Amino acid sequence: MKTKKTITDNRIDPDVLKYTVGDDPVLDRELAVWDCMGTAAHVTMLSEMKLKRPVVTKKEAAAVRKELGRIAALAEKGRFEIRVEDQDVHMAVERMLTEKLGDLGKKIHTGRSRNDQVAVDVRLHMKDAILRTEAELVELASQLGTFGTEAGMIPLVGRTHLQPAMPSSVEMWATGHAEMILDQLENLEAAYRLADLNPLGSAAGYGVPLPLDRQRTTKLLGFSRTIHNCFGASMARGECEAALLSALAQLMAVLSRLAEDMILYSMPEIGYFKLPREYCTGSSIMPQKFNPDVLELVRSKAAQVLGLQTAALSLLHAMPGGYNRDLQDCKWLYMKGLDITRTTLRILAKVVAGMSVDEARCRAAFTPGVFATDVALRKVAEGTPWRDAYHDVRDHLERLSGEDPDRAVAAKTHEGATGGLDTRIYLRRARESLKGVGERLAALNKAKAALLK
Ligand code: ARG
Repeated sequence: MKTKKTITDNRIDPDVLKYTVGDDPVLDRELAVWDCMGTAAHVTMLSEMKLKRPVVTKKEAAAVRKELGRIAALAEKGRFEIRVEDQDVHMAVERMLTEKLGDLGKKIHTGRSRNDQVAVDVRLHMKDAILRTEAELVELASQLGTFGTEAGMIPLVGRTHLQPAMPSSVEMWATGHAEMILDQLENLEAAYRLADLNPLGSAAGYGVPLPLDRQRTTKLLGFSRTIHNCFGASMARGECEAALLSALAQLMAVLSRLAEDMILYSMPEIGYFKLPREYCTGSSIMPQKFNPDVLELVRSKAAQVLGLQTAALSLLHAMPGGYNRDLQDCKWLYMKGLDITRTTLRILAKVVAGMSVDEARCRAAFTPGVFATDVALRKVAEGTPWRDAYHDVRDHLERLSGEDPDRAVAAKTHEGATGGLDTRIYLRRARESLKGVGERLAALNKAKAALLK
């Protein structure tokens, strides 16, 4: 039987190797920069350990960091290659360091396992990705805010059960969705806080007989704190991926509902909104068609991300303590979930920005029934108890007549109603969120640049 030589094992069946390596040679390219950063912190810490015979000297650590900087630069240009024999990014980086630095390259993995190494890579990658996702989320919310404020109080029939219900406005519709989307930042922030913990130094999950300074790598890498228990640190792999997928699944469900409203309101029979032609797709047989495929796919992708979250939790729930290779598959799940969600945020921002309002169609939809509650409330103002006023109107629906929708919309002035909407709230929230995102991305970049120079 033909076998292949790898750094960890020089007799492995090629089919088994292929199966166990899976998509890592492709997926791990996304981790390369973060792997270099984590290794730079580890080697720096190793060089500072007080030992009779240092594992690596400070000078050697500086040489390793410089080489890691070169490898990270290659990775940033998309020119980092992982071979099947490497198995993953970790071994590829060690191979490259050894090719360049000889024995020094063979020392960098002292006191470390790929288990804590990949866990730290994923967390650094995830922190960066969550912040970028948040910026994209805020951009979509801002586009909805602009769409809403530009349309202002153009009256829109508010619906419940899809049936005409009460006077609303385009502004209320758009900023209501914007607020729901902005609220999803809470879930992403919770996932961020979980990702912001350092597992490095837990090694294979049980520590090592070396005086590792785990606080030091936490500081160098810019994590909020260290995961104290080494076994716990290894168990935490997969948990933050699942937490992020749960935030993403919920966000996608929110986006899917927005997409669904846009599909309905741009149907020819309803026609409140118009989607730009260039964002609609045609039919191969029906020449008249302009279909909202892009929005339909938002719905299907929401289902997919929910599936990815389910897959992550299913993968984890029965896994025994300590590292198991199952965890490798978590990587694909969360990377896929991130990719789908981020693409969806970007495409929706574009479609919302291009969407227009057909004011005449919005106004034409106001049937007398839409004013029924307002009529009953006017009776209350004249002294009739609510339930009597309600029955009065309910028993004589034929007496209802068309009213001025602008007046009805303006008359609801309490907080958050059509006439009491403060759209500056959304601008302020968007501005503050972006500031927080920018500051944290800058801090992460600064830590990375300091380690890889
Ligand atoms: N590619 C592996 C993963 O993502 C790296 C860790 C391998 N560790 C091991 N004990 N086989 O999980």
